[in-house]
Amino acid sequence: MSQSKPPFEVLLDRDTLLRKTAELGREILSAYPDPSSLVVVSIIEGARIFCRELMRHLPAGLEVHEIRASSYGAGTVSAGRVEVSGGDGIDCAGRTVLLVEDIVDTGRTIDRLRAHFLGAGAARVAVVTLLTKPSRREVDVAIEHHGFEIDDHFVIGFGMDVAGRYRELPEIVLYDEAVEAEFFGGAMRVAE
Ligand code: PRP
Repeated sequence: MSQSKPPFEVLLDRDTLLRKTAELGREILSAYPDPSSLVVVSIIEGARIFCRELMRHLPAGLEVHEIRASSYGAGTVSAGRVEVSGGDGIDCAGRTVLLVEDIVDTGRTIDRLRAHFLGAGAARVAVVTLLTKPSRREVDVAIEHHGFEIDDHFVIGFGMDVAGRYRELPEIVLYDEAVEAEFFGGAMRVAE
């Protein structure tokens, strides 16, 4: 049974995403000949689905953790600052931390987390991201492994959301408010 959803334009279909994720798995295996020395850290919520898929292509038994990073945009006291929570028990001293991201946009999240893990004693921090939007970069961050470079689209699905919606979509689509409003008949899912 196919899922009922607004007809958003598909940017990257599921087969393309799964093929690229497998390719990234192979790239990581060749870049880190002893993957058991890696500490894999998934940046939630957005990276959860990509990370789960990526792990299927790496040896079983790797150490995987989750860390939450949230940005506060304009209009808040901490504009532009990325707050980190969770990940307290991660023992990264002298090890290589592999940050797993769904998308790198301004680069602030990666910049903040790289500093966080280097400050905690990691020997090295590397990044694997499914998507990168170079045109939006504000901080010049190194991205060791990436899946797709995309233009400045608002993308959702495969873990990415708009206000908590559509993370479950199996592919990556372009979010369009008008398409969504028409699909829901102008009545978005307003709580009763
Ligand atoms: C998104 C995405 C990245 C971050 C990238 O997370 O998952 O973590 O933004 O943006 P940046 O390069 O500008 O820092 P978001 O804050 O939407 O939280 P979420 O992952 O919980 O959806």
